[in-house]
Amino acid sequence: MIATTYRTRSELIDRFQAALSRDELRCMLHGRRRDERGAFARSVVEGLENDPPKLDCRYLYDARGSALFEQITAQPEYYPTRTEAAILSRHARDIIEATGAARFMELGSGSAEKTGRLLDAAAARGGELTYVPVDVSEEALHAAGAAVAREHRNARVIALNATYEEAFPLFEDLSPLLCLFLGGTVGNFPPPQADLFWTEVTYALHPRDHFLVGVDLVKNRDRLEQAYNDAAGVTAEFTKNLFVRMNRELGSGVDVRGLRHEARFDEAQEQIEIHAHFTAEQSIGVKSLEWERCFEAGSRVLVEISRKFRLDRFPNYLAGFGLQTRAIYTDAHHDFALLLLQRGNRA
Ligand code: AVI
Repeated sequence: MIATTYRTRSELIDRFQAALSRDELRCMLHGRRRDERGAFARSVVEGLENDPPKLDCRYLYDARGSALFEQITAQPEYYPTRTEAAILSRHARDIIEATGAARFMELGSGSAEKTGRLLDAAAARGGELTYVPVDVSEEALHAAGAAVAREHRNARVIALNATYEEAFPLFEDLSPLLCLFLGGTVGNFPPPQADLFWTEVTYALHPRDHFLVGVDLVKNRDRLEQAYNDAAGVTAEFTKNLFVRMNRELGSGVDVRGLRHEARFDEAQEQIEIHAHFTAEQSIGVKSLEWERCFEAGSRVLVEISRKFRLDRFPNYLAGFGLQTRAIYTDAHHDFALLLLQRGNRA
């Protein structure tokens, strides 16, 4: 794998276009030199000053967090990954036929395991294949990019260590493309962030492009809560790892043994809410910003939400942004769904 780094958005676009134009290129990683720690520090202070206090779930995914998330996906209670993979296996050919896709971008690619099914179906049609995984975790991206390049000998892999927002301007260079946003990750966005995301996606897509999004569907409370409270305690470890990361990178001084993971389904909001519950009084600091705050025993910090969707409402919500739902693929129990979207022509 060839690796390069970039500092600015325009440098990213230039390097990406150069990589695309090199036909002989097989696998390349663009890493970003960013002040990740400074952004993390500011986000922690802002979130913990909030009433009620919260943290940004994107920071759950350091190297250990990404590895723990992979373990979560294998827990018997956590059905979304398995269900989505089965839907993709069943419909990969339909999706490739409906889109004619040969160029793929995947937002939040993680291990990219499920994507292989679509690439296999596209490869069976012959011709050039390009796969552009985008992830903020460099370790996960490296592993995913290398695995796809190894398993799909005729695919070009240009891996981007970038945020989704940084990847949107690159849609144009890949068009016609099929952009993938799998796993139900869109459910981790609070509503204002989701609105902004869909506005930006619609703006970036050309009417000949497609967008495939995976969403977890509303279902009975017990199944949902079990999925986020696995018996082996991996999800609890995933929540606590955010505080371990804060201790390591920000000198926060949290006693992680005094934290309890809590995941509950809020029926009104139709979302799982994951909190860290402080069983004893704790002081949390951010050294570089000379900031500290004391949390009483019994305080709770919101670490993540995971919204669940309804198929009789979600397409209407997307239509409000100008996105048409071309097809819906789901499982027999309607646990999870993949929606194939296209932007309508602008007036
Ligand atoms: C990545 N995302 C879709 C997961 C979810 O189900 O919301 C994150 C997760 N958090 C705890 N378990 C899984």
